[in-house]
Amino acid sequence: METGPAGRGWEHRERWGAAGGPGAAMRLKLRNVFVAYFLASLGGLLYALLQLGQPCDCRQRRQRGGAGPGGPEPRGGQRPPSPGGSRPPPPGPIPPELPPELPTIYVVTPTYARLVQKAELVRLSQTLLHVPKLHWVVVEDAAAPSALVASLLAQSGLRFTHLHAPTAPERRRRPGDPAWLRPRGAEQRNRALQWLRDTRAPAEPAVVYFADDDNTYSLRLFDEMRSTRRVAVWPVGLVGGLRFERPLVERGRVVGFHAAWKPERPFPLDMAGFAVALRLLLARPGARFDPRAERGYLESSLLRHLVSREQLEPKADNCTRVLVWHTRTEKPKMRQEEQLQREGLGSDPHVEV
Ligand SMILES: *[C@@H]1O[C@H](CO)[C@@H](O)[C@H](O)[C@H]1NC(C)=O
Repeated sequence: METGPAGRGWEHRERWGAAGGPGAAMRLKLRNVFVAYFLASLGGLLYALLQLGQPCDCRQRRQRGGAGPGGPEPRGGQRPPSPGGSRPPPPGPIPPELPPELPTIYVVTPTYARLVQKAELVRLSQTLLHVPKLHWVVVEDAAAPSALVASLLAQSGLRFTHLHAPTAPERRRRPGDPAWLRPRGAEQRNRALQWLRDTRAPAEPAVVYFADDDNTYSLRLFDEMRSTRRVAVWPVGLVGGLRFERPLVERGRVVGFHAAWKPERPFPLDMAGFAVALRLLLARPGARFDPRAERGYLESSLLRHLVSREQLEPKADNCTRVLVWHTRTEKPKMRQEEQLQREGLGSDPHVEV
């Protein structure tokens, strides 16, 4: 059937040519050829003019068209190379990509099973979702990873690592022990340090921050800590029986600490009040938290391996701004639940809370 249409076309032209006699047909044909040629040229000229007038249109189209055939291009490949860097920045929307040298923030969170655990972790994870180049290292105080934390992490949308390390039995807090008796989370934070040392390259630009799951974090805190060179410090609100604790800064240097509780500590700092450069942690393989440290000395047990007081880098406007707060979720009362459970009518245990 391939020859069918072509044959019919030829037939048609022949008949048309025959209608007005040979001379008239020739003139008509020529005029039509000229008109067609004129229109085609005009169209071409207009198209060329439009293209000249809007040089940036095509680039925008290329940037948006990442998902063409063969899937999205790698982001780095979308911009034309700029030899010598002399080319002005491309107009149009700024691409959302991050400069490759932006240091990663490793947020280390020890956590343990309790009624409010999921609520705390969901809240923290949704704060962390706002922070670019972040890697969440969650360490459970457990002999094995739990399904609750595993599925929460899998659905979090964050880059994460899920670890676990049980607290040694002799250091475990027993029911009825007051909260101040033993420092919590030392083994879990040490597990994270081990993971960093086992898997990260010393040259990787990165910062490590120990963020408990119950505190409240301003997003600005993460901007502040990202430039940490050794150990950066800042105030912590609602801690140590004060409105805030903080390093005291003079001429850009830490010269002391505003703290009322055990101010004689080598580093009277809260866990939430400092960050450490990954490079420094990897350069000092012996630096770790001492699980037997007296309450309040856990932070100092790590920091004494890493810096002197004079080397601390004050952040948050020379430690004049509170960007992180010690907050604590009230322990929920389960009187009714226990009553119903005794009657075999407790809330469905298959529903995760
Ligand atoms: C911190 O203090 C130093 C010295 O007084 C000053 O030069 C610097 O601008 C201050 N930085 C901020 C962010 O306020």
